[in-house]
Amino acid sequence: MALRAFGLEWLVFRDNKNTVAFVGRYCCHMGADLSRGKIVDGCIECPLHAWKFDSDGVCTGIPALDGSREQLLQNKKLASLPVKEAYGLIFVFYGENPDFDISQPRNMSQLRYGTSSRFVLPADSHVPCLNTFDLQHYKHIHQREFLKTPEIISNNPFHLGIEMDVRVVPNNLFNRFMFWLVGGEATICIDCWGASLLLMTNHKTGFGAIIGLLPVQKNLSSVFVLPIKNGGQSANPVSKIIDTFTLGIAGYLIRGFLRPDLNVLSGMKPFEGKLVDGLDDTAKRYWDYYRSLPSHSVDFSEK
Ligand code: FES
Ligand SMILES: [Fe+2]
Repeated sequence: MALRAFGLEWLVFRDNKNTVAFVGRYCCHMGADLSRGKIVDGCIECPLHAWKFDSDGVCTGIPALDGSREQLLQNKKLASLPVKEAYGLIFVFYGENPDFDISQPRNMSQLRYGTSSRFVLPADSHVPCLNTFDLQHYKHIHQREFLKTPEIISNNPFHLGIEMDVRVVPNNLFNRFMFWLVGGEATICIDCWGASLLLMTNHKTGFGAIIGLLPVQKNLSSVFVLPIKNGGQSANPVSKIIDTFTLGIAGYLIRGFLRPDLNVLSGMKPFEGKLVDGLDDTAKRYWDYYRSLPSHSVDFSEK
């Protein structure tokens, strides 16, 4: 599968051991499009001269080369990025080694997950993270009222979490349903990792969401939303059907909650503007966190 991320073109495939490869899309020989190639012996084979590359992007074979010159394989490598699979999703890290691990959502020792949805957001990928810590928008966009001042938690430099006790204002059909579902009030925890991953849990319902943010290029991102539920994956067929059904409903509600966010965040050019003391303190805290994250870049010129 070919895709664009970090302003570059990539190819994603699985090798014979089911390992996910995330490598540069164009062949390092003459630039043929590897997405038109095929998988042979767990390697991607270029459609033009049949050079083969493994899941690390290393060239493992040049058919036109006789065995005596195998040393020529050295330094023939595609760009590749570290990949990790978790919750049925594929995570890729834009850098040599991941700065942080993919952790479990708070208060969920094991989790069941549904099917992810993808949204296109015409804005930088960290915008939904900024939105998480922007307390003013919860009232204006979601009609939620805070029952007490939200608590901010940070476990390490890549993490910023918030715990919010909120009351749902039943002003429309969607919010009336949410009000009924949570009994009017809910405790929501959201953990932000690396300004690129949001883990959201609702203490009352035991449901939540994982929101993965992929920068496609400047001012364009993909937002992946995965509904989750506390508890291990069930082997019982009836429980599986119930899980599929409830996670489907949860996904529908989470998408309904996020849709107004994504509408108003489209086209946003975020900067630390005229923030107001007492109103925007958690947004300020987010900017401090965001500015302290290392920015990564990988030199692909040699590969
Ligand atoms: S362009 Fe890919 S093998 Fe020659
Ligand atoms: Fe929001």
